Amino acid sequence: MSKPSKFFSHETFERNIGWLIIATIVVVSIAGLVQIVPLFFQHSTTQPSPGVVPFPALSLAGRDIYQREGCVGCHSQQIRTLRSETERYGPYSLAGESVYDHPFLWGSKRTGPDLARVGGRYSDEWHRIHFRNPRDVVPESNMPAYPYLQHAAANAGSIQAHMKALRRLGVPYTDEAIANAPRELEGKTEEDALIAYMQSLGIHRRSTSSAAITSSATSIGN
Ligand code: HEC
Repeated sequence: MSKPSKFFSHETFERNIGWLIIATIVVVSIAGLVQIVPLFFQHSTTQPSPGVVPFPALSLAGRDIYQREGCVGCHSQQIRTLRSETERYGPYSLAGESVYDHPFLWGSKRTGPDLARVGGRYSDEWHRIHFRNPRDVVPESNMPAYPYLQHAAANAGSIQAHMKALRRLGVPYTDEAIANAPRELEGKTEEDALIAYMQSLGIHRRSTSSAAITSSATSIGN
């Protein structure tokens, strides 16, 4: 009988760093594909969780400001499955809650608290004071102030293009929602938009959701 090939022996890989690197890349790639590819087809990651709807126009405009101001550098939007987190922030985050987020803003740094369920936690007026000068409501806060947002008009010019682009990515905006968007932003400031965005975060998982929506709808623009 011929001797078995020595090529696939441990020795070949242990003595030859080039083969070791190539074999490692192959193994890690296969493992990665096995883990990642099914996520693109699993319902729990591709279908919205119950109650999750596309951001209304004003909240969407606020989301842009959130990105522009770099809030994601200090705030996460993902609650982990740890008791300390769920007791502080609410139910842990699910993949299906982020299906309409392009880009996602999960963040990885928490200088400030997680914001995934901040909607309805405070009044609009609280946010207004907090954005203008965080120290007025939380004396020890090191969050920067954003007083200029109250003087800038919410960007109604690009909102329709933004919503259409999101629709191409699978966010189900209706023609009616897109047609009405500029009107919803009329007379609103960037501060109003950012507050609307804050108040829309995670409300589908809070028992106070309907109360929060009503209060933000009535007090914005006062
Ligand atoms: C330098 C880091 C930093 C940046 C940047 C920052 N924050 Fe904060 N934020 C904090 C800290 C710290 C707190 C906790 C103290 C406080 O409430 O002010 C906080 C608190 C908050 C709260 C209250 C959360 C709660 O549950 O009590 C909200 C809402 C918030 N930030 C929104 C924002 C938004 C929106 C932006 C961007 C416009 C932003 N933050 C930018 C650090 C930051």
